[in-house]
Amino acid sequence: MNKQTIVGVLGAGSMGSGIAQIASTQEHQVVLVDLNDDALAKAEASLKKILARLVEKEKINEAISKSIIGRIKFSNNVNDFSDCGIVIEAIIEKLEVKQQVFTQLEKNVNDDCILASNTSSLSIASIASACEKSDRVIGIHFFNPAPLMPLVEIIPAVQTAEETKNTARTLIDSWKKVTVLTKDTPGFIVNRVARPFYGEALKIYEEGIADFATIDWAMTELGGFRMGPFTLMDYIGNDVNYTVTETVFGAFYYDPRYRPSFTQKRHKEAGWFGRKNGRGFFDYSEGAEKPEPNKDEELGAEIVNRIVVMLINEAADALFLNIATREDIDLAMTKGVNYPKGLLAWADEIGLANVLKQLEDLQTEYGEDRYRPSPLLKRMVAANKTFY
Ligand code: NAI
Repeated sequence: MNKQTIVGVLGAGSMGSGIAQIASTQEHQVVLVDLNDDALAKAEASLKKILARLVEKEKINEAISKSIIGRIKFSNNVNDFSDCGIVIEAIIEKLEVKQQVFTQLEKNVNDDCILASNTSSLSIASIASACEKSDRVIGIHFFNPAPLMPLVEIIPAVQTAEETKNTARTLIDSWKKVTVLTKDTPGFIVNRVARPFYGEALKIYEEGIADFATIDWAMTELGGFRMGPFTLMDYIGNDVNYTVTETVFGAFYYDPRYRPSFTQKRHKEAGWFGRKNGRGFFDYSEGAEKPEPNKDEELGAEIVNRIVVMLINEAADALFLNIATREDIDLAMTKGVNYPKGLLAWADEIGLANVLKQLEDLQTEYGEDRYRPSPLLKRMVAANKTFY
């Protein structure tokens, strides 16, 4: 594939229009299809607004802005994908709908067109199974907002051909993205490894150890994370974040490590989704006062340690199960969700024996399988090894 490759994008929502913007900025002709004309009009208007801001900030000039919008064909007809070398699907996150769409898509494209899905939680194997030529199907998972977040997870299914994988990865690399290769398992890398960032923070709150504001203060000020867990959940939306947690929990056959939290469930049930409707863990209405954190350094350090060792345990277990390489696991968390450090490098810094001891203490105290240390950590400590 090269710049002459026409890129198709199905679904003109926030992800689809972001992906279309990236491909067009990289000088591809783009066909952006949505069945809903309003969604298309909205995508075009918002893209023009984004480009106008980039011109204002002198990131691009007027001519480039015009050419980016000019290369995108906004269409409500999937037949317009007929000359595409790749089509990336970014429609609603429902397996039955995606399967129907992939079966149909295959009839609208040429024989060697790659069909990719931007799904964050469905198995690529199940989407690919809807196609006759399932070896052309692959997961290409962008992060929100796609034009700004550098990371893209590349997820070959069991059916995916080696050539599909290589071609897709080379193409996305050429778009100046950081690609990581991951196995087709629930949550891929980022949405799997990041679960304790939310789950353990919620547990710390539920036990009454600290309130939302204090946990967020500890994680940002002491932990170096760009956003605290509760601010981030409010930003993502408690409806969306809770559903991802529940999906990952089910997909892992109810492993207690991934168990969702009643606190978040109740916030979701109350309609307290977060920023988008003015109320989540925090109140975003006008004039609302921000709660003050308890800036007790010792308490803060306890909070950060507990969440970070749980994150490290997930990262180590992902490596143990060959979900991705050491480098890709660390890159995924720094480039996909802006973690201050790669978790495996961080583990080396803290000391693996120290990480293991904290996990074992938690497991003893709670008697829960949730805190079981990854066998890889145990083996590495026994052999006195480090990740790097
Ligand atoms: P969205 O709801 O903003 O947009 C979906 C678009 O797809 C809508 O414009 C809708 O009209 C269109 N659509 C629905 N069914 C269609 C069909 N059969 N044919 C053509 N168009 C159709 O959704 P969003 O947030 O952009 O997500 C899209 C996909 O990307 C989902 O699979 C989601 O899980 C995934 N994703 C979302 C992220 C996020 O943070 N929003 C991050 C990474 C992946």
